[in-house]
Amino acid sequence: MKNVALDKHHRPLQDLRISVTDRCNFRCRYCMPEEIFGQDYSFLSQDKILSFDEIERFTRIFVSLGVRKIRITGGEPLLRKNLPKLIERLNKIDGVEDIALTTNGTLLKKFAKDLFEAGLRRVTVSIDSLDEERFSYMTGNRGNVKSVLEGIQAASDIGMKVKINMVVQKGKNEQDIIPMAQYFKDQKHILRFIEYMDVGNYNGWRLDEVVGKQTIIDTINEVMPLEFTEANYVGEVANRYRYKDSDDEIGIISSVTDSFCSTCTRARISAEGKLYTCLFATKGYDLRELVRSNQEDEQIKETILSIWSNRTDRYSDERLSNTKKLNDKSSHKIEMSHIGG
Ligand code: GTP
Ligand code: 5AD
Ligand code: SF4
Ligand code: SF4
Repeated sequence: MKNVALDKHHRPLQDLRISVTDRCNFRCRYCMPEEIFGQDYSFLSQDKILSFDEIERFTRIFVSLGVRKIRITGGEPLLRKNLPKLIERLNKIDGVEDIALTTNGTLLKKFAKDLFEAGLRRVTVSIDSLDEERFSYMTGNRGNVKSVLEGIQAASDIGMKVKINMVVQKGKNEQDIIPMAQYFKDQKHILRFIEYMDVGNYNGWRLDEVVGKQTIIDTINEVMPLEFTEANYVGEVANRYRYKDSDDEIGIISSVTDSFCSTCTRARISAEGKLYTCLFATKGYDLRELVRSNQEDEQIKETILSIWSNRTDRYSDERLSNTKKLNDKSSHKIEMSHIGG
């Protein structure tokens, strides 16, 4: 019989986000600022990163605890050698109902066919502007709009469902809200606007740089009228809005101004095999150590069950009222590039 793992707020464990590398070919300022993630930064060595065998084993154990959805993340997951092979292996696991990938899109044109053949049907591509200059600024002078759009096209042409993520930062790319909405409405891809978040320790996040959900909606609604649409499933991260003149929709991910911790069913495994029960966690649980010290599946399952059962995370719900936690510089949060959002 399958266990249902419930945390302290009765939230079931349903989604597993697996980071397959801490490296990225971009240096987005809100995620991996060049000043920190430069020449001297030491990324994880090969032996510290979970192997495909280890990832598959963990996935099977998580599925036995109720996980149904898997998302592959990074850093940039397409930098991980033979990634389609991993997707193929995870796709064969009984109980995995959905596998998706979050990528910056630059290598997507190259890998779209292999990923599709491995069974991947859903991809989310991050792009913050269609303007080359602003895109370049946002990504720390890496990559270009053209290659990301070609990646999106390749994934879409081969038959994958594509979603687009755009982080909106005040003073940086607000002017791109409308052009992005128009472009991706034409392309029939769901664009999700993400409020700029205080993830990690180095992006210098300030509340006054957040463009809130309501501002984003009002901005679009003025030009392209919108109406609220019900969620596809309980716990969907994005709030959905449909254009009144078509079936196309956008999403808003409002972790700052309208948090959604009460329905958070997501666990995250970092590339080095640590389990995090929140995107803003300061502590991970070393799962790699468990497999490498030859523990049985049943023991590992018990450990994960116990971690989830004791979970109390509600960081985003508490963010604006808990200034002590926010300003506590001694607590080191996990970096976005280690757990992929
Ligand atoms: P689907 O609904 O399965 O398409 O995926 P999703 O909405 O979970 O999409 P995705 O993984 O692309 O999430 C989009 C972004 O929302 C992430 O990159 C994060 O920035 C943010 N996000 C996702 N989950 C959480 C969460 O649990 N907490 C917070 N604060 N932000 C999250
Ligand atoms: N705030 C909001 N979203 C972020 N992402 C990375 N860093 C941040 C941040 N500080 C987004 C990326 C990508 C997803 C993995 O998370 O742009 O779409
Ligand atoms: Fe790389 Fe994505 Fe972070 Fe940008 S947001 S640096 S593309 S991992
Ligand atoms: Fe889940 Fe933490 Fe995000 Fe809240 S802040 S939704 S608990 S990951």
